[in-house]
Amino acid sequence: MFNELKKYLVKPGLYTPSTNNFWDDEHISKGLLAAHLNPDWDAASRKHKFLDQSVRWIRKIAPPAQYKFLLDLGCGPGLYAERFSSAGYVVTGVDFSKRSIEYAKEQTLMKKSNIRYLYQNYLNINFLEEFDVVTLIYCDYGALSKTERRQLLEKVYQALKPNGKFIVDVFTPRMRNKESRSWSYSAEGGFWSPEHHLCLEAVYQYDDEDETELRQVIVITEENVKCYNIWDHFFTKEKLLAEIEPIGFKSFEFYGDVAGKEFSETGETICCVCTK
Ligand SMILES: C[S@@+](CC[C@H](N)C(=O)[O-])C[C@H]1O[C@@H](n2cnc3c(N)ncnc32)[C@H](O)[C@@H]1O
Repeated sequence: MFNELKKYLVKPGLYTPSTNNFWDDEHISKGLLAAHLNPDWDAASRKHKFLDQSVRWIRKIAPPAQYKFLLDLGCGPGLYAERFSSAGYVVTGVDFSKRSIEYAKEQTLMKKSNIRYLYQNYLNINFLEEFDVVTLIYCDYGALSKTERRQLLEKVYQALKPNGKFIVDVFTPRMRNKESRSWSYSAEGGFWSPEHHLCLEAVYQYDDEDETELRQVIVITEENVKCYNIWDHFFTKEKLLAEIEPIGFKSFEFYGDVAGKEFSETGETICCVCTK
């Protein structure tokens, strides 16, 4: 155990993978689902009031009468998808959290909202000009490496019909964290493990061209050591445009958030609406 732990005392190489899946973990996904469903937490999803505002705004800039078919990437338990469906869109949601997709499927059956949910990594989607709108909401874009971002943008472009819109939000450099290390003990079990466990947390910054940030969580139980490496990236308007423009989109609008707030150089998020 000691030798296993010792290797986590040094800064990991860029994009060292986690030992276990974060979003699709049997235990962690329970806590994540609870976080999504809490209407007053800005955790896995934003507060539900914001979701309502967000869908109202999207409905205004891409009315379902003209933009009927909507693909929601990283749909989680379907909080946006259900709202999009009520707003008049025909919705497909994609997510690689089994627990979230199962919850979303139950909800759509119960509400008869007829949403199609796919349990899939969105980096592997293969739609051809099927959608009028593609959404990727709550800054998931920044969790991807540069290569993955390019791959996803190409897939999104391919999935959109001509004149279709891609709506994406990202964190700005204001949201970068300072390097830090901390530990905590959960006597009763908690978010990271159902058993009593120790968590060693660190934030690392990298000097690569992408200014990558890593939040590393080491979860130590009596039985094992698990390491979760959660990567993040931060964007200025210019950096985001430099990635999206070469894909072929013809026009771009920038906002301060995914509910249509005015863009500001000092904001915490940026939302880009890109038209194919
Ligand atoms: C921060 S949550 C946002 C959920 C939703 N967009 C919202 O705003 O309520 C990120 C979601 O994306 C999913 N996700 C992350 N990476 C993914 C990938 N590569 N493929 C499919 N789903 C992914 C996670 O499982 C999680 O449900």
